[in-house]
Amino acid sequence: MLYKGALFADLNRLGLASWQAPLEALLKQRMAPGTHGHLEQWQKIIERLPAADGNCVRPHPRAVEISGPHLADMAPDDLQDLLMGLTPWRKGPFRIQGIDIDTEWRSDLKWDRIRNSMTPLDGRTILDVGCGNGYYAYRMRAAGAGIVIGIDPTLLYVCQFAALRKISGIGSAYVLPLRLQDLPHSSAAFDTVFSMGVLYHQRDPHEHLAQLTRTLRDGGELVLETLILPGDQHDTLQPEKRYARMRNVWHLPTISALIEWLELAGLQRIRVVDITRTSSDEQRSTCWMPFESLAESLRPGDPETTIEGLPAPTRAVIICSR
Ligand SMILES: C[S@@+](CC[C@H](N)C(=O)[O-])C[C@H]1O[C@@H](n2cnc3c(N)ncnc32)[C@H](O)[C@@H]1O
Repeated sequence: MLYKGALFADLNRLGLASWQAPLEALLKQRMAPGTHGHLEQWQKIIERLPAADGNCVRPHPRAVEISGPHLADMAPDDLQDLLMGLTPWRKGPFRIQGIDIDTEWRSDLKWDRIRNSMTPLDGRTILDVGCGNGYYAYRMRAAGAGIVIGIDPTLLYVCQFAALRKISGIGSAYVLPLRLQDLPHSSAAFDTVFSMGVLYHQRDPHEHLAQLTRTLRDGGELVLETLILPGDQHDTLQPEKRYARMRNVWHLPTISALIEWLELAGLQRIRVVDITRTSSDEQRSTCWMPFESLAESLRPGDPETTIEGLPAPTRAVIICSR
């Protein structure tokens, strides 16, 4: 069982003791042998990594840095091979006992765009929906957050976090193999909820926003980061097939349309804090993510247009509250 008692003790502290029974059943089902062809191989890698004795996360401006005697005792090539066994690494960067995991995304750039605009995280309880491998959970805990619950249905990312958690000794941070719609209904417990890079993957964006709102306590804050359609008009683009090579992008609203969606979900004090076109400095292939990336999704010589002829990926950060 993922996380054993620590997770349920923290959920108890959040007043979410009623989650224990449904979550135990869901976690058991999602992590059952055979749910993914590579799960056993990833679990063996996690078993072979040494456990930290205490917190081994070091301050670093950009990367999540983890080091300590348990890692220094390993041959660097063995440590690198184990970490490479968990590729592709999309979100990061991480620096593990001097080994730089240069991930597809410079996630620190997104963090820099949001961190000064949200209510400071000191002592707050966090839900990070679509959290990937938990890179931001480390940044949130370093910024003073109390308990961080991340959820993401992609098992590789759940395993990457399990590996990082074991070698780092980070406390009160979790990545659970769940979708937002799996969470038990009684969940209005979180001070800050993040949904970053998730809304455009939802067939029903209104339902996603309504579910996010239900997880917030009264007055709690939503940090939403999503792809938008640039421009001042009130419009939504629904890509017919692919968008920037992605098959599962359903809606790109303009800022005006997105604000209306948020109002319909009952959110207030809506602030657009950043709009940035994604660059190949932020998203690119690396040896830790050797597949195609942003460069192959844009028209050659035209960084403003995708290979499908649509506006190139532009992301907005919006902060609002319940
Ligand atoms: C583009 S990634 C964004 C990761 C991270 N939040 C970031 O901003 O870098 C989207 C993630 O959302 C996850 N996801 C998609 N639908 C979801 C849902 N309904 N509930 C929770 N996570 C979801 C995917 O597995 C994927 O890891």
